[in-house]
Amino acid sequence: MRIVNIVGARPNFIKIAPIMAAWKNHPGVEATLVHTGQHYDEKMSDLFFRQLGIPKPDINLEIGSGSHAVQTAGIMTVFERTLQENPADAVLVVGDVNSTIACGIVAVKMGVKLVHVEAGLRSFDRAMPEEINRVLTDSISDLLFCTERSGVENLLREGIGGDRVHLVGNVMIDTLLRNRARAAETNVLGELGLAEDGYGVVTLHRPSNVDSLDRLRGIFSALNTIAAELPLVFPIHPRTRKNAEAAGLLAELGDRIRIVEPVGYLEFLRLVDCARVILSDSGGIQEECTVLKTPCLTLRENTERPSTVEAGANRLVGSDPDAILAAFADVMKSDPADIATPPLWDGRAAERIAAKTLEMFG
Ligand code: UD1
Ligand code: UDP
Repeated sequence: MRIVNIVGARPNFIKIAPIMAAWKNHPGVEATLVHTGQHYDEKMSDLFFRQLGIPKPDINLEIGSGSHAVQTAGIMTVFERTLQENPADAVLVVGDVNSTIACGIVAVKMGVKLVHVEAGLRSFDRAMPEEINRVLTDSISDLLFCTERSGVENLLREGIGGDRVHLVGNVMIDTLLRNRARAAETNVLGELGLAEDGYGVVTLHRPSNVDSLDRLRGIFSALNTIAAELPLVFPIHPRTRKNAEAAGLLAELGDRIRIVEPVGYLEFLRLVDCARVILSDSGGIQEECTVLKTPCLTLRENTERPSTVEAGANRLVGSDPDAILAAFADVMKSDPADIATPPLWDGRAAERIAAKTLEMFG
């Protein structure tokens, strides 16, 4: 079986690492890796390949940044050529970014089987670009792997079921469990002058938060209040830095909020593992917090990952400053030991994905 695996953006690298490793256990599989180039900064891309031992991509489409149409269409044009020149039996996409849907459409229109890892997640918020990518990718996929029960239920409701859909666990957690001990060997806490359980971590990059200056200003004011009690470290996403710098907002963050460049996977894992609380609008970080038993305040109105809320790790807080402060006060009284781990988040999702894909299309 020849299978082309697609990555483009930061969370994709973390998800593909165990999948590329799993293919190696199947001698009958010829697995190649295509990087669309959606993310390209050293700290948003190459660093993850090095730290996680992901094979060098066979091809980089070098698409770079652009509007949704420019980026998606650009990936489609170049990937179509790539797939014509390198025929495959299946294309595997992960997550919900523009690279996911762009390569998915190309694959199915060329009659190539499409495998979607992390299928079925729904925020039910169509203003989120990722929700459009999720719904469309799932609707054209031949084989759909879900991380949690809600994913299977959402797909069934949309008429997608049967032997196409499999609950297999979470490849992001495969990577976490494989690297937790290595992360503990980094000196990121020492370098940033942080003590275990004595700080919080912030990440922000959702357009709904960071493309609206009013909303971003409100979040920053809440962060300043929180930082008076608990120092914060804020590895800032390039989208957020660009917007905040252009509006002169970064200067509004006080000196107990340490702004740093995006950090490597191992350093970030260590930061989350040892933090008292995370404030974030990320998708994947909600899941990592759940397994690490670090409380997560999600600065969004909804989540496509309800199992993290049910596990007691994650609270939906929105972006209103008063709501953020109230949730922070509440979470500081909670006991993280009570957080549960969702079923099958056991480090073996990629193995299950490889075996089932081979059984179906090998
Ligand atoms: C993308 C994904 C989002 C995912 C996030 C993970 C889509 C629609 N969005 O959002 O789902 O949660 O990645 O981080 O696919 N930039 C750089 N250097 C880079 C990459 C981006 O400077 O290496 C800047 C550019 O100004 C770019 C902006 O960030 O325009 C946004 O990048 P883009 O990939 O379009 O979206 P993200 O916000 O990163
Ligand atoms: N991450 C990282 N360094 C950082 C911030 C995040 O390695 O500075 C990792 C994090 O551990 C998680 C992934 O990036 O595995 C999440 O990516 P992001 O929040 O960009 O995207 P989302 O999950 O929201 O799509």
